[in-house]
Amino acid sequence: METSNQTALNGGEGPGSFKITGTGSYVPPNVVTNDDLAVFLDTSDEWIRSRSGIEQRHICTTETASDLAVRAARNALENAGASAQEIDLILCATMSGEYICPSMAAMVQKRLGAQCAAMDLGAACTGWIYLMETAAAFFARGGIRKMLLIGTESMSRILNWHDRSTAVLFGDGAGAAVLEPGENYLGSSFVTEGNDEVIVVPAHSGTSPWFAGEPRLPLMHMNGPETYKFAVTNLPRRIHEALEKAGLQETDLDWVIPHQANQRIIDSAARRMKGVPADHFCMNLQKYGNTSSASIPLALDEWNRAGKLKKGDLIAMVAFGGGLTSAACLVRW
Ligand code: ACO
Repeated sequence: METSNQTALNGGEGPGSFKITGTGSYVPPNVVTNDDLAVFLDTSDEWIRSRSGIEQRHICTTETASDLAVRAARNALENAGASAQEIDLILCATMSGEYICPSMAAMVQKRLGAQCAAMDLGAACTGWIYLMETAAAFFARGGIRKMLLIGTESMSRILNWHDRSTAVLFGDGAGAAVLEPGENYLGSSFVTEGNDEVIVVPAHSGTSPWFAGEPRLPLMHMNGPETYKFAVTNLPRRIHEALEKAGLQETDLDWVIPHQANQRIIDSAARRMKGVPADHFCMNLQKYGNTSSASIPLALDEWNRAGKLKKGDLIAMVAFGGGLTSAACLVRW
């Protein structure tokens, strides 16, 4: 059954809104092509490109998800003209951090030399949109001048590299943004359909001498076709709900920044959103694969640094993923 928070934090000009004053991203330098994967997996460049649009991905060698997060955060701070000491709160989304405790955000705080509160949230590939909404709630409480949001993933650490149905789809990277009080977060829509069968990364089963269950490793399992069905229906629906609540229309949108999971999913959504030209969907998954919570801020940073986002542009960010979760939000640039 669908549940939705459609009454909560329905953006708009007023308490809880913010503006994005800087973006940053970072990917590890090691590039892995589809042909590199075909060396040890029963797959091909043709299959991966035609089913997903992915041509290559960046994969960590020595780096951890917090290394990527710190590099992306520094880039965002520089872009915003802000220092780590000015940040009042750090929020991170991740599903592939190197520690369960301390949080990713706490490690980033330490390494940046920031003196502020820091915490993580988990919503798999939808994490970035949950970060934005959580940020709006913190701004609504007042007292925050600058906030740092980071989506960071070392997906290569939680993939089963013997499973061709998942190993070819994901990549590593991080994206970040600096937020300040403003009037540019206009609305959102969130849905969760609790389900541990379609996308799951179990916790390690541990070493308890009394444990009597099946031992398990923290590696991803995904039912691709079920995820695909969930994504193609929910992606346009979330955008339409967010637009409706903000009193806006599809034709008002200048850009859609979707979670970069699969070109075919985005093409299908674009066909259902005739008011937005297909080339206004910001896509870079051919270079990075699916970087989960990092994928939207990675694309946001690329479009920002390329000078494609103009002041006043209306941007929809939309994601889906483990949970199952799906969400969209609207930002005025
Ligand atoms: N190379 C070659 N063949 C493969 C590969 C591969 N890498 N992977 C699967 N196959 C085979 C399958 O075994 C199957 O073979 P069979 O017909 O002999 O059984 C065949 O290809 C078709 O498999 P499907 O899974 O039906 O392929 P489909 O066309 O659905 O594409 C895909 C698979 C790309 C995974 C697609 O379903 C998809 O994109 N799903 C959504 C994934 C997604 O968006 N995930 C994001 C959320 S993840 C998160 O939140 C962490």
